[in-house]
Amino acid sequence: MALLELKNVSKVFGGLTAVGNLDLTVEENQIAALIGPNGAGKTTVFNMITGAYKVSEGDITFQGERISGLKPHKIVEKGIARTFQNIRLFKKATVLENVMTGFHTKSSGGMFNIIYNPVKISREEAEIREKSIEILKFLHLEDIMGLEACNIPYGTQRLLEIGRALATGPKLLLLDEPAAGMNSTEKQELMKTIYRIRDKYHLSVLLVEHDMELVMGISENITVVNFGRRIANGTAEQVQTNPAVIEAYLGRSEE
Ligand SMILES: Nc1ncnc2c1ncn2[C@@H]1O[C@H](COP(=O)(O)OP(=O)(O)O)[C@@H](O)[C@H]1O
Ligand SMILES: [Mg+2]
Repeated sequence: MALLELKNVSKVFGGLTAVGNLDLTVEENQIAALIGPNGAGKTTVFNMITGAYKVSEGDITFQGERISGLKPHKIVEKGIARTFQNIRLFKKATVLENVMTGFHTKSSGGMFNIIYNPVKISREEAEIREKSIEILKFLHLEDIMGLEACNIPYGTQRLLEIGRALATGPKLLLLDEPAAGMNSTEKQELMKTIYRIRDKYHLSVLLVEHDMELVMGISENITVVNFGRRIANGTAEQVQTNPAVIEAYLGRSEE
């Protein structure tokens, strides 16, 4: 059984089919990629998987269970976390606090507990802090954990967003253009970090990325979309030599 399965999934905005009849699977422990020219529908796919957008048609299953139709926070609870193409951090909060917010999506800090169970809350808070520091150490960000998120370099902000996603305890991590704005050293590091994350947290990664060196270097399975439609699927070697893929990329670059 695949970890994530999209079957015949479409998203229509007004008259525009942003995603059309898409089939996509991610296996357990796999690093997979979803690629395609700008506007091909990649972020829309992420928005449907995470419940931010309703699917217009089709089904999404995760660990054999239908998740299309669930609210976004339920999908996070099932074990799907994401980062955003346009970074979404709490800019005025510290690096550490940003990771802690990831844990808070699952903590018991509701109003009842805050009033009737303050000891439990402070113990839980301390645990969240410890676990957040562990993640920051793993990402080599512990030295900057006291800085405000807006004061750290752009590439590091992308890494921090991954840290916050990890704090929700995912089985599937969706990364939307994680290398955007990174220099080549940072990209090399990111590649290693993605491997390390997969191995330490025993999760699968679905990557949307324009940097072909990164995509082809680490993805075990690649799905290529153009105008919302799947035009190829396979290994890096298979998709790179696929005429429809070459056509899609060359066609767009001449625009
Ligand atoms: N909320 C929305 N309302 C209307 N159109 C949208 C919305 N989100 C995305 N689109 C359109 O869907 C298409 C795919 O967009 P997107 O998924 O962001 O592409 P990609 O991430 O591959 O660059 C684009 O034409 C975009 O304008
Ligand atoms: Mg996008």
